Amino acid sequence: MNQYIIKGGKKLYGEVNISGAKNAALAILPAVILADSPCRIENIPDISDVKTIMTILSELGAEVEYIDTHTLKIDPRTVNTDIVPYESASKIRASYYFIGALLGRCCKAVVPFPGGCNFGVRPIDQHLKGFSALGCDTHLDERMIAVSSDGALKGANIYLDVVSVGATMNIMLAAVKAKGLTVIENAAREPHIVDLANFLNMMGADVSGAGTDTIKIRGVASLHGVTYSIIPDQIEAGTYMAAVAATGGNVLIKNITPKHLESISVKLIEMGVTIEEGDDCVRVIREDSLVKCNVKTMPHPGFPTDMQPQITVLLTIAQGTSMVNESVWEDNRFKYVDELKRMGANITVNGKIATIEGVETLKGATVSSTDLRAGAAMVIAGLVSQGTTYVEEIQYIERGYENIAEKLIGLGAEIDCVPKPRSLIEKIS
Ligand code: UD1
Repeated sequence: MNQYIIKGGKKLYGEVNISGAKNAALAILPAVILADSPCRIENIPDISDVKTIMTILSELGAEVEYIDTHTLKIDPRTVNTDIVPYESASKIRASYYFIGALLGRCCKAVVPFPGGCNFGVRPIDQHLKGFSALGCDTHLDERMIAVSSDGALKGANIYLDVVSVGATMNIMLAAVKAKGLTVIENAAREPHIVDLANFLNMMGADVSGAGTDTIKIRGVASLHGVTYSIIPDQIEAGTYMAAVAATGGNVLIKNITPKHLESISVKLIEMGVTIEEGDDCVRVIREDSLVKCNVKTMPHPGFPTDMQPQITVLLTIAQGTSMVNESVWEDNRFKYVDELKRMGANITVNGKIATIEGVETLKGATVSSTDLRAGAAMVIAGLVSQGTTYVEEIQYIERGYENIAEKLIGLGAEIDCVPKPRSLIEKIS
């Protein structure tokens, strides 16, 4: 098990390239099995969650060929089962997209309950409600979810009771080859939903309204393979913006879509950071002290919950008292706060609201990544702290950030990735 050792206090300067969007790739790669010929997918992030999806595709029988680190050719014609094996699929949340993709391909799917980061209860009732509206029966046991329909799925009107990214995309996958019209109301509007719709439409699907809260899907008989490039990762970009805002400095963040970053940029500007937008880049400059602001996480186009831990780190060193309201996930999304407190942060959590009194500086400590984005927040906290920070459980960070240590070192940070020494108990057991 590796850890990051970060010597804090260095300002960040230079340029950083943002990788393809994790949450788009995790839906688009399963969607390839809807096609009746090979797909070439470009700008795939080199992260462990994507590797797990590739393993599942191979286990289903697809032929997967790496053209280079970020480009894959996938031939779905050899897929020969509708059962997703337990071991790989139970590691990640996004394995649930194989339910929609297999239903779209062959009207039947047996998929393990999804794993992923623990933000508390992560139900999939809205996914199942959608499949059942499309004419499917569902059977659950403690490990597996079996969904199937006798004959073709039938288009339906589906109103989501909560705005769910996963349910919106999963229903799109299942409905794309269903008979007739499916309408998803109260749909999520994240950039990766638009990306999935664009991919499906290039393959021959008829999806309209993605990016609004009403998505219409007119079923088609077949889909064909295409070459497609995944959009840039909004959250990875936001994380580097937060890192520069924390340490101070001047960094050009490249290969991004500035429109996707507006809710993050607005908050950084409110805190005293300068943001200059280009066509496919933003420059982040921070010279003066940060000042307080209040943040409430919301579905897109609101402030993303996946940027909540990173912005909280900034607020720990901002002048004044700030509030962060987590309205998407449960209180579990504040688990990392205990780690920040050990670095000297002054934070009180009451249910879904964290109150943060800005302090002069954080101090290096040994901290754990409690989940993917919390891990990124620990790295930012290490960059800005006095002394040395040891970030443990970095396998969470590697699930969603491509080469984060190398990218930060390229900006002037001092980070080593080294094996964590074994504890005395581990040595004698
Ligand atoms: C995705 C992202 C995750 C991000 C989240 C919200 C992936 C792999 N993960 O997760 O990083 O934090 O969007 O932007 O893309 N809900 C229900 N019933 C359901 C589904 C969801 O009640 O059937 C609730 C959840 O408990 C949560 C809220 O809806 O409170 C949003 O969840 P959802 O948008 O579905 O998150 P994911 O798609 O799992």
